[in-house]
Amino acid sequence: MKTFKSLCTIALTAVLALGTVACGTDDNANTGGDTGKKTIVMGTSADYKPYEFHDTAKGGEVAGFDVDIAKSIADQLGYQLEIKDMDFNGLIPALQAGTVDFVMAGMTPTAERKQSVDFSDIYYEAKNTIVAKKGANLKTAETLSGKKVAVQLGSIQETAAKDMKGLNIVPLNKTGEIIQEIKAGRVDAAIIEDTVAKGFVQANPDLEFNTIPNTEEAGSAIAFPKNSKITADFNKALQGMKTSGQIDSFAKKWFDAE
Ligand code: ARG
Repeated sequence: MKTFKSLCTIALTAVLALGTVACGTDDNANTGGDTGKKTIVMGTSADYKPYEFHDTAKGGEVAGFDVDIAKSIADQLGYQLEIKDMDFNGLIPALQAGTVDFVMAGMTPTAERKQSVDFSDIYYEAKNTIVAKKGANLKTAETLSGKKVAVQLGSIQETAAKDMKGLNIVPLNKTGEIIQEIKAGRVDAAIIEDTVAKGFVQANPDLEFNTIPNTEEAGSAIAFPKNSKITADFNKALQGMKTSGQIDSFAKKWFDAE
């Protein structure tokens, strides 16, 4: 067992070193069940309403802004869409390992991530906010000094927190956990993007959010394995959806809902 495992590790390492992992649909088309279409696999972290979340009204199916865009692109390009849900911090490794063909997770195309993966054009801009209990008076970066502040592990909010002075940072895997920790008083605040914070605050009237100025880029783009063959097609479809107003109408549907 042990030998088998290490053999696999060696084999995988060798393949990775050669840079020729061909697992995704990109090179390796699976025929999707009854539709006869090729399946394309999207990785996401479905803890990020309204971008992606488990819709209890639809039996827990993953839905949201990103999912609508992904479905439309898959449709335009003739693919059957399959969604794989995982922790946000596991998404880039999944792209690198070829277990997913692309990632839509409200992910920001940072310079650091661009060293490991490729990105489409940005399809939505966002801002960061501080989420805290009402009355805590934690509204600016300065007030967070010396406070316990939760962020999603591997997110740009974690980086933003590190850039602020004197924070006691608590990185967590799921945004839902972050909200629970604030409510329980185990952390003082969190840094979460505006569209997502808005939904959590609506559902939890004991909380409030305040927007803070962006220090770095905060938009969302689609991520692909380096040199993926589908990037150009996705970008083209995305551009078409921007021009036709389709992206705006999805944004209206998911972000303006009260
Ligand atoms: N935009 C931020 C980033 O790229 C947070 C994204 C978190 N997404 C999620 N599905 N939980 O780091």
